[in-house]
Amino acid sequence: MVGLVENSVESIEVVPTGAALGAEVRGLDLSKPVSDQLKEKLIELWGEYMVLLFRNQDLTDENILATAEVFGGQQIAGSRAFFLKAGYKAGESDRVSKHAGISLVSNLDQNGKPAKVTAGVGSLEALWHTDNSYVEVPPNGTLLWSEIVPTNGGGETSFNNQYRAYEELSDEFKEAIEGKHICHDNLRNTAGRLRPTAKEPESRNEITGPAHPIVRIHPLTGKRCLYLGRRYEGNSSYIDEMPDEEGDDLLSKLWAHATQEHLCWTHDWHPHDLILWDNRCTMHQRNPVDHTQARVMHRALIKGEPIISAWDEQAAAE
Ligand code: SIN
Repeated sequence: MVGLVENSVESIEVVPTGAALGAEVRGLDLSKPVSDQLKEKLIELWGEYMVLLFRNQDLTDENILATAEVFGGQQIAGSRAFFLKAGYKAGESDRVSKHAGISLVSNLDQNGKPAKVTAGVGSLEALWHTDNSYVEVPPNGTLLWSEIVPTNGGGETSFNNQYRAYEELSDEFKEAIEGKHICHDNLRNTAGRLRPTAKEPESRNEITGPAHPIVRIHPLTGKRCLYLGRRYEGNSSYIDEMPDEEGDDLLSKLWAHATQEHLCWTHDWHPHDLILWDNRCTMHQRNPVDHTQARVMHRALIKGEPIISAWDEQAAAE
């Protein structure tokens, strides 16, 4: 944002996408300080729209981390531990950036060239998921800033509204999931590829990851949202309280319901866009990228709080 003197509540303009979620916030330069009053307003907008887009932001990693502070502080990505365990050194690879709170989501290989397959997601599709649902306390949100994006080369990111997904479930469906939890597979990345050091699971007993309630309560709005997290081909996330086949059948129906087109909004990136999304009440998916073109994004996770289960009547009532 060139020419903006100071960020203020009065300087912003909010333009809703018109889809099931998302709004563009204009008139801010996030490389500049954000007052407490503006912070309050931005958190209110985040609660209302779930996904906020800020265009033309010339940001450093330090600015992105400062923006993470506005929305609740930073959280280190769960994938970092897998890469460090596999011998990657901080600051020497795109996979493990020099700032613990920043992950580079890029399709560059170790020689800095775009590639289809890398040790991360590379140029592959990132399947529908919520970030880091495979850790005990998942991040509340994510900031993603585009440094380099392809021209007409894919990589669009879609988001969906999981409040609405819950609201539109039939009573029968709601009854079927009541009291149930999903074990969130932490063995694979969002392209469905095994993480470094992880082994292909032969049964669901070999899936590792925390169990979270299928429905959670959003602490800002007090409303219920579906929380499906992630699911891959083969042995993967499963419903704790159900036998394999029955649970898989229910999960397939839930995923088909939760990823319907009318719940989504898709963003086609330009360089220096910043998007903030809420991992508590949305999922996202990224289209495959033309692997001959570079795509380099900087991501910071927003610190999470313990999940409020819709099955915990006391916590849900607070
Ligand atoms: C992610 O899935 O966290 C990244 C999405 C993207 O690369 O657009």
